Amino acid sequence: YWNVDKFVDGLENYPQVREAALLLRQNELIAFPTETVYGLGGNGLVDKTVEKIYIAKGRPSDNPLILHIAERKQLGELVSEIPPLAEALMEAFWPGPLTIVFPKQLGVAMRASAGLNTIAIRMPDHPLALALIRASGLPIAAPSANLSGRPSPTTAQHVLEDLDGRIAGVLDGGSTGIGVESTVVDVTGDVPMILRPGGVTAEQIAEITGEVRMDPGILEEGVAPKSPGMKYRHYAPAGDMRLVKENSVEEMVRRIRKLAHEAQAQGKKVGILATAESKLCYGEDYVVIACGKRSDLISVARHLYDALRRFDQEGVDMIFSETFPESGVGAAIMNRLAKAAGGRYL
Ligand code: TXA
Ligand code: MG
Repeated sequence: YWNVDKFVDGLENYPQVREAALLLRQNELIAFPTETVYGLGGNGLVDKTVEKIYIAKGRPSDNPLILHIAERKQLGELVSEIPPLAEALMEAFWPGPLTIVFPKQLGVAMRASAGLNTIAIRMPDHPLALALIRASGLPIAAPSANLSGRPSPTTAQHVLEDLDGRIAGVLDGGSTGIGVESTVVDVTGDVPMILRPGGVTAEQIAEITGEVRMDPGILEEGVAPKSPGMKYRHYAPAGDMRLVKENSVEEMVRRIRKLAHEAQAQGKKVGILATAESKLCYGEDYVVIACGKRSDLISVARHLYDALRRFDQEGVDMIFSETFPESGVGAAIMNRLAKAAGGRYL
């Protein structure tokens, strides 16, 4: 465990970063912060190391990983082609919370790509992540640093809760800023296709490329998603979660109060995922966790996974969650909430 709380130039020469990078070169696993969530990193070029990542997380082996790079020149050995769309998106959003799915170079990163002929790559916008990747000189395969099925980690503490004893170390850079994962976009067709909504919004992508599509598999039940990871129930708290949708915030709050009251009458310990604005409306009989401000969806994204983890700590049986508008980063928030609730709306 290394705490690195000062982000300054030359971070790659810090002893903590050098030691972590050396361990990565020795094919050990290191967790590190990015601007989205903490990643569980390993040498993306060595199949045996990537295999260790799958084992540490308990991740299904058909779900490919993202390779993290610090310099554009690292793309050369990984991709067979840089489509013009990718060029425009990298220019606009790298470093940043955008993962681009490229046509893969033959023969490299077989395990990280789970045998697909495409490879997902991103350049994170976090000084510690960039320093670690640079110091290691490797493309770093890194899924979110949680046990498979648990909410993604936004602090080093979350990482240790899930993975202590399973990894060689964690670089602690404090809380991550964005709080939900990167947007995954496929650029192998004519129009960019969002496979997973995330930190970069569809609206922002459309500003660069004119057009953007959403993978129908994200939106519709029964259509197989193009991103293998999207088919799993994810981000799930232990309590049974339901999302409550109404025409106005007032009606939503009233409905949740009623549902919470009924569930409690049946002997259940009830949690409510609320916001700073609504928190006080629910009284003191339930575990009410405010997840940012409704008037600032960016703050909701930032606190979302920590809120889900807190319900687990409180041991609630049932969680009723407020819902949010699906524009901007709201698309990513609602996608994660829907997964946490197994798609169950009330
Ligand atoms: O913000 C993030 O993206 C974090 C940080 C650590 O960078 N990482 C992350 O990784 O969320 P992970 O493994 O939890 O999610 C990767 C997603 C999965 O949904 C996976 O199926 C998809 O990217 N993916 C990876 N390679 C792909 C490919 N070649 N084609 C389609 N989807 C792919
Ligand atoms: Mg994940």
